[in-house]
Amino acid sequence: MKLLIINGPNLNLLGSREPDTYGNQTFEDYFQNLKHKFQNEKLEYFQSNIEGEIIDKLQSADKNFDGIILNAAAYTHTSIGIGDAVKAIATPVVEVHISNTSAREEFRHKSFIAPNAKGVILGFGLQSYELAVQSFLSPQ
Ligand code: DQA
Repeated sequence: MKLLIINGPNLNLLGSREPDTYGNQTFEDYFQNLKHKFQNEKLEYFQSNIEGEIIDKLQSADKNFDGIILNAAAYTHTSIGIGDAVKAIATPVVEVHISNTSAREEFRHKSFIAPNAKGVILGFGLQSYELAVQSFLSPQ
């Protein structure tokens, strides 16, 4: 299965950014573990701090992947454009978050992605991404 992980703003700082909330591991490091764990699958990873680049990536990935795992980070709570892009494409998108956004500030409770996502996984640390991969491998 061919899956694309898209990470949004500030997730390039994982490892050093607010470690109490997001842990100590860089995403690059975690992604190597993930590829090793799912050796039979084709996993790709893209990160951008720019809203339009995330929309471009969702559009260009459409029909070229079996699934997309999207952590739009802060744009989750603000971006109608990314939400619309998720709605516009045929490839299923699973929304993930490292932290349990429902247990944090009120402004993090709103997601413009969730209404058009296949499902949402949040609060399991970086393991949220692994659970998202598994959701594509054993679909309901
Ligand atoms: C996040 C949660 C968002 O609210 C926050 O803006 C992030 C990371 C998470 O993975 O927990 O940057 O998406």
